[in-house]
Amino acid sequence: MRKKIVAGNWKMNLQLNEAKQLLQEIKVLEKNVSDVKLIINPPALYISLFRELLENSVIALGAQNCSEHVSGAYTGEIAAQMIKSCGATYVIVGHSERRTYYHETNAIIAEKINRALASDLSPIFCCGELLSEREENNHFNVVEQQLKEGLFHLNENEIKNVVIAYEPVWAIGTGVTATAEQAQEMHAFIRKVLKEFYNEAVAQNCSILYGGSCNASNAKELFANPDIDGGLIGGASLKAADFLVIAQSF
Ligand code: 13P
Repeated sequence: MRKKIVAGNWKMNLQLNEAKQLLQEIKVLEKNVSDVKLIINPPALYISLFRELLENSVIALGAQNCSEHVSGAYTGEIAAQMIKSCGATYVIVGHSERRTYYHETNAIIAEKINRALASDLSPIFCCGELLSEREENNHFNVVEQQLKEGLFHLNENEIKNVVIAYEPVWAIGTGVTATAEQAQEMHAFIRKVLKEFYNEAVAQNCSILYGGSCNASNAKELFANPDIDGGLIGGASLKAADFLVIAQSF
């Protein structure tokens, strides 16, 4: 059966002391959560230290991005192998902020997915439409294309290691959450596409997370839906108490 997952994407927030403090607070609260995989995606600089601080914890670590290259002269980039060697087991790939601000195409994202899997990292593959695309009723096509071009080159064995996050761009950091109906509709669509392209088992076993202004007040309503397996949380993951409430919202 697929996993329930709550993942915090800390984005480019918190200096080291603040980050350690938040991690400590989350560690204290984690014992109140059962049956849910917790993943923290801090800035990559902190992963190695966090791995040590999380000794005896079941909280997993992920990076927010990785390079599409294996290694070499790519100043400023971070390779999937490096992320793995610092103790992370997940990496977010294809976040809309990467697509928008760093011009990541579906083709680049497909390469990043390959690098992640080759380094034994589970990718958290992000997809989602712009507001204009939804208004034109084109959101299903956009998401399907992102899946097909960024992810569906994987074989059945490989895709089993991938978590999908549906993050409508208009909901990210805006305070405007997709309604539970809108989110469930898209999650069911993603699962249908997985079934058509792969098979029923792949579709049923894939965790599909919702992201975009998911918070302590709306997580329960979202997670109550059959195809919503948890959340990829931005702003609300920066407050330990809120992150905990979200993790308890199943
Ligand atoms: P917010 O929860 O701040 O809207 O961010 C969502 C997100 O982008 C998670 O990756």
